[in-house]
Amino acid sequence: MGEFVKTSLEQAGVGLIRFDRPEARNALNEVVRGELAAAFEQFGADDAVRCVVLAGTDKVFAAGADIKAMAEASAEDMANTGGEAAWQVIRRFAKPIVAAVNGWALGGGCELAMHADIIVAGEGAKFGQPEIRVGIIPGAGGTQRLTRAVGKFKAMQMLLTGEPVSAADASAMGLVSEVVADDQALARALEIASRIARLPPIAAREIKRLVLSGVDKPLDDGLIDERRTFVSMFDTEDQKEGMRAFIEKRRPDFKGK
Ligand code: HXC
Repeated sequence: MGEFVKTSLEQAGVGLIRFDRPEARNALNEVVRGELAAAFEQFGADDAVRCVVLAGTDKVFAAGADIKAMAEASAEDMANTGGEAAWQVIRRFAKPIVAAVNGWALGGGCELAMHADIIVAGEGAKFGQPEIRVGIIPGAGGTQRLTRAVGKFKAMQMLLTGEPVSAADASAMGLVSEVVADDQALARALEIASRIARLPPIAAREIKRLVLSGVDKPLDDGLIDERRTFVSMFDTEDQKEGMRAFIEKRRPDFKGK
């Protein structure tokens, strides 16, 4: 349990990571980034956790990197913050991540949300990459993931103007999975995560890996990887359990083996 990042085990198989630094709108300073990485490492190593929900507070997801902490930094200072290592932990996290976004998801906050595999947004959420307004550019995947998510012209508009978009607009452009009432975002994210947690974790991990790696591969290579992985599922106990349970008309009990 960190100063700004709290972890808890929710319904069976669901780990919740919440960052809570409301006085700075959950700005991601070095401590927050380090605690976030530690939380993901903890849940990554815990077999009891099959899916993670990532959330901020009711009013704000995260307002981005901490501007006050980097305002006077040099390029060399920024190269040596170690920030990249924390992002790598989240990027390499193999289990599914569901983000629950309420309020602002700006800059590094929007980039953090885009590290999730499913994004549930409260209707009052706002997403933006305002870095250009403070003289910089996104540094945790904003120019790359946003473009892959929404296409060139929507991404360029957000990145070049720095103007945020509403949850409804984000949904229309494919930046979020689902929009719900503000007070339902976390509950809905937990519900989705608990559904995923009841499903076979090896299949979930492979689906995540294939989707993420496939985006950057030629289609033929992605299809070969998918087919090989599909075949390998038949070496798992969960495949036998899932198909037998279907035939026997009962609920499957997936063990992750
Ligand atoms: C440091 C921040 C902050 C930030 C807010 N605060 N955002 N401090 N870094 N990113 C602080 C404010 O200075 C203020 O401190 C307090 O939080 C409350 O903020 P207000 O602006 O008064 O709140 P509000 O009117 O509710 O507006 C919320 C907001 C706005 C829309 C989120 O704060 C805002 O625009 N923030 C900056 C967003 C931004 O530019 N993000 C991109 C950062 S660059 P005091 O002391 O006055 O109470 C980035 C690069 C990523 O993210 C690179 C990744 C490697």
